Amino acid sequence: MKFFLDTANLQEIQEAVELGVLDGVTTNPSLMAKEGIKGTDGVMSHYKQICEIVDGDVSAEVIATDYEGIIREGEALAELHPNIVVKVPMIKEGVKAIRYFSDKGIKTNCTLIFSAGQALLAAKAGATYVSPFVGRLDDIGHDGLQLVQQIVDIFSNYGYPTQVLAASVRHVPHLIQCAELGADVVTCPLNVIMGLLNHPLTDKGLATFLADHQKVNS
Ligand code: G3P
Repeated sequence: MKFFLDTANLQEIQEAVELGVLDGVTTNPSLMAKEGIKGTDGVMSHYKQICEIVDGDVSAEVIATDYEGIIREGEALAELHPNIVVKVPMIKEGVKAIRYFSDKGIKTNCTLIFSAGQALLAAKAGATYVSPFVGRLDDIGHDGLQLVQQIVDIFSNYGYPTQVLAASVRHVPHLIQCAELGADVVTCPLNVIMGLLNHPLTDKGLATFLADHQKVNS
């Protein structure tokens, strides 16, 4: 299972790289705004910086919603760095653009997936990744993890190469359940990855070992 960080924060990306477990990064316009990135040049330069820190796929989202605009923005993003994955929204023009990018060998991440049908359509168009938003479905009283399960099963039935990238993963149980369901990738904030470290019995056991070591050496 691949771990992607869902952030545009360079320090957090660096920290995850140093932990030695980071496989890639996903961003979106909201995450870029959170970092105070301004203007097209600022956005492009920020993507480049992310690509220089992490050795893996970096999803960069288009803003256009018309076919020509998505193609124009996606091609410019793809030219920035070989690790860029063009993130395209699940809309009709987006599906057409995913087919275009796929035929040109440009990797894509189809975002804002909230149903199995949307995921199937994106896979048919040749998306590299589909991103079901787990937490946002939970937010409205649906079961985000059930959608991940459906998509994993459907892709497995037909051997689709499209990878299931579980997004809007908010906490450790989400991440673990995505792993149990066979999601190819999870993307989440750094605190969720760091949360995997924690167990009170580990802390207690280590404190005991260190105290006993003191006895041995006193
Ligand atoms: O990758 C999608 C993600 O950024 C959405 O997360 O927590 O805003 O639903 P969230």
